[in-house]
Amino acid sequence: KRVVILISGSGSNMVNLVEHCQQGKAAADVVAVISNQPAAAGLNKAAALGIDTAVLSHREFDTREAYDRELTALVASYQPDLVILAGFMRILTTEFVHAFEGRLLNIHPSLLPKYKGIHTHQRALDAGDTEHGVSVHFVTEELDGGPVILQAKVPIFDGDDADDLQARVHEQEYRIYPLVMRWFCAERLTLNADGVYLDGEKL
Ligand code: GRF
Repeated sequence: KRVVILISGSGSNMVNLVEHCQQGKAAADVVAVISNQPAAAGLNKAAALGIDTAVLSHREFDTREAYDRELTALVASYQPDLVILAGFMRILTTEFVHAFEGRLLNIHPSLLPKYKGIHTHQRALDAGDTEHGVSVHFVTEELDGGPVILQAKVPIFDGDDADDLQARVHEQEYRIYPLVMRWFCAERLTLNADGVYLDGEKL
């Protein structure tokens, strides 16, 4: 399967996914890494792994719609079977989501439906939660609202700050995102009108 990964920043999940593919652990090839941020550190990491990279800066577009139209065309030009958002810090238009619906994944650092949006680690701390986590989900039109495929929990300990939680969550991200990619690329995972199915059974 052909996989395109979208990033905005450090790209540590992207690197983990690429390495997973390159080690033959998934029936997948990452054919491109695309960033909306020209300075994203992940771009050099992808290039060092031999992956094609592209930059499409949102600053050069007047509207979200115009940007996403171009992004849709750029992603589609790689003919992906799967599009993976890995720290891609943009709200996507309906047009983009529809173009790739059913083959568009995101990872969100909270136990969805809790804490959609940003600053999830601090919000979990502020709420006095004793556990936190991360969710991989299919992307639909609702921000961070698509059906969840897999979650991992982490404990919150007294004295933790947001950086501690981020590090603990990242470790789990490196476990669950490749697993979901592997399921999808093995055609075990589908998004149907009534939810997500794994091996023909509703999750
Ligand atoms: C991760 O925490 C992910 O859950 C969120 O953005 C972060 C990306 O981190 N969507 P990295 O760029 O993969 O290191």
